[in-house]
Amino acid sequence: MLLEFELNGKQTRVEVEPTLRALDLLRDVLGLTGTKEGCGRGECGACTILLDGKPVNSCLLYAAKLQGRRVTTIEGLSGAADGTADAAADGAVGGAATNRAGDDSPRLNPLQEAFLAEGAVQCGFCTPGMILSAKSLLDRNPDPEVEEIEEALSGNLCRCTGYGKIVKAVQRAAANRAGVAGRAAPNPGRAAPNPGRGAEARDER
Ligand code: FES
Ligand code: FES
Repeated sequence: MLLEFELNGKQTRVEVEPTLRALDLLRDVLGLTGTKEGCGRGECGACTILLDGKPVNSCLLYAAKLQGRRVTTIEGLSGAADGTADAAADGAVGGAATNRAGDDSPRLNPLQEAFLAEGAVQCGFCTPGMILSAKSLLDRNPDPEVEEIEEALSGNLCRCTGYGKIVKAVQRAAANRAGVAGRAAPNPGRAAPNPGRGAEARDER
């Protein structure tokens, strides 16, 4: 079938098999390897993409479901503060090319900068999904409470960080977006997230 959808701000047309997963379309056909496969069954959130601005697990989604929709992957965040740029680069901090030296490579999104600043990236496998879930949250709620951040990220599992730094990174990004320079992010005192989060929003298969 011919699939047409908006991918990171660009109209995209591609022939796909009806049973192809969205995750495989992105990674194997389109080469956007910032989207990761962890569990492959909707439990870890490593494969998170934004579908019309909402986080979904692309391992549970047929590529056909992308027809006519607006898709954002981690590669779509680099290059613009609002996350709508079309840069496609796979590197540090959840798939974005870094530009900390002022060269011509795409700039990091403020969320990516905040994850770096807070030390919220260790192995980085969860980071693309975390950042996309956080972006969806901040787009609808620019000044979330800790509990709201935890809820928004509860479908994204991290084996490395203990979550506290991730929550602080989202708070930092929110503060930076609001232009509150120098505002210290409070200690969230975070508990481990609920892995059962968001099944209804994420399972669009
Ligand atoms: Fe784990 Fe998709 S790969 S939820
Ligand atoms: Fe390793 Fe989150 S940084 S899984």
